[in-house]
Amino acid sequence: MEILISEERIRDRIHALGKQIEADYLGRPLTIVAILTGSLIVLADLIREVGIPHRVALLQASSYKGATTTAGALIINESFAPDVAGRDVLLLDDILDTGHTLATLVHRMSDRGALRVRTAVLLRKLGRQEVGIEPDYCGFVIPDRFVVGYGLDHNDDYRHLPYVAVLPTPEDPGASEETGQFPVMG
Ligand code: XMP
Repeated sequence: MEILISEERIRDRIHALGKQIEADYLGRPLTIVAILTGSLIVLADLIREVGIPHRVALLQASSYKGATTTAGALIINESFAPDVAGRDVLLLDDILDTGHTLATLVHRMSDRGALRVRTAVLLRKLGRQEVGIEPDYCGFVIPDRFVVGYGLDHNDDYRHLPYVAVLPTPEDPGASEETGQFPVMG
């Protein structure tokens, strides 16, 4: 598979984001709410870079079923939903694609009484967004290709890869010129 973002670049970027979040939330009642399952790895690495007191909580959302690379209906499981009343929530997701997941969860957190809701994503895919949401923290901007690794999966495979790679699909069978012409930013 074509490696889009190396382990080292991810490590450096997560360190920088963690320090930025630490400075921005100093003295504030921060809860980082990670959206399972894709953000598991970024959550573990990010919170160890945020050197201020904060809580961690989990929600589950999914729009991809099984061995597909096309999104279906958004399913949200709030069984572990935290008490965020009066707290600053930072929603953390692996990737911003159409924007439906994050936009929906921002509303859910506000409805649950959060003081302020902001968003952080490891990746933002360009050219796919359907909902107008701007992430407050973004690791890397990537071209429109289906990616796996560092928590991101295809049918629950590949999450363990320490880098982000492009999954070959019938529409996108291998390394293309696109990545070179459209460098990953972050
Ligand atoms: P939306 O469209 O709601 O989607 O912004 C966010 C969720 O879609 C999944 N997603 C992907 N998962 N490789 C993946 O492994 C991808 O390229 C990809 N694009 C979207 C992901 O679960 C994310 O939370």
